[in-house]
Amino acid sequence: MALIDKHKIIETNGTLLLVGALLVVTVGGIVEIAPLFYLENTIEDVEGVRPYSPLELTGREIYVREGCYVCHSQMIRPMRDEVERYGHYSLAAESKYDHPFQWGSKRTGPDLARVGGRYSDEWHVDHLTNPQSVVPESVMPKYGFLADRYIEPEYIEDLMKTHRIVGVPYTDEMIEVAKEDFVNQADPWSDSEGLLERYPNAQVRNFDGQDGITEMDALIAYMQMLGTLVDFSTFTPDASR
Ligand code: HEC
Repeated sequence: MALIDKHKIIETNGTLLLVGALLVVTVGGIVEIAPLFYLENTIEDVEGVRPYSPLELTGREIYVREGCYVCHSQMIRPMRDEVERYGHYSLAAESKYDHPFQWGSKRTGPDLARVGGRYSDEWHVDHLTNPQSVVPESVMPKYGFLADRYIEPEYIEDLMKTHRIVGVPYTDEMIEVAKEDFVNQADPWSDSEGLLERYPNAQVRNFDGQDGITEMDALIAYMQMLGTLVDFSTFTPDASR
């Protein structure tokens, strides 16, 4: 009883109540937020998730540059309508190497988190060149110019080093051979053994079907790997964490 009587002191003193409330909220906030700064605790490691290969990373830069995220999200929410339409809900680990993340907040077009493998490369070339040729009612702009823009892996090392600064585990070796990996991934006749060791499940082929490496190659390489790294036939969420 005595303790409850003391509570009256706080209840009848506005300033004291404010200070007390602030204290409680601060402690609660720290307990909730602080662990999130230690990403290792927060993001469950999932087998198969790896950093982007040099060509995929370049495609991702083009995706960001062209503002594809303005109309497309990359996060499948764990709700039935989404899972039935797009596939398994997105895992935190699947975007842990995304800087900046591409979750998006608007869907003028469909979610792209698992678009990899859904269409052929040719479909992507046709669709990017003229979306209305495959989806007549589409409001997506045309990106045919990407096929005319030939690219060299001039800045790929810098790009990878930058990603390393923010936590992507690119090794010195990966950066050293980045230019070769970049070229090899777009060449079906290349020796891709090393590339596949560094980036398991990377897809190696001529993505846009024309000679030389274009921005179209890089963008399609990126889209064709989206959501394909985790094998959901064997994946079980680690609920114990
Ligand atoms: C103005 C909004 C808009 C922008 C910007 C946009 N898209 Fe789209 N996108 C759409 C719409 C709407 C659709 C659905 C109709 C269609 O397939 O064209 C779509 C469909 C797609 C699809 C097919 C998805 C599926 O599951 O069927 C892909 C892939 C795609 N867009 C990629 C891109 C890429 C890559 C970019 C950037 C280079 C981009 N989009 C920019 C609106 C947009």
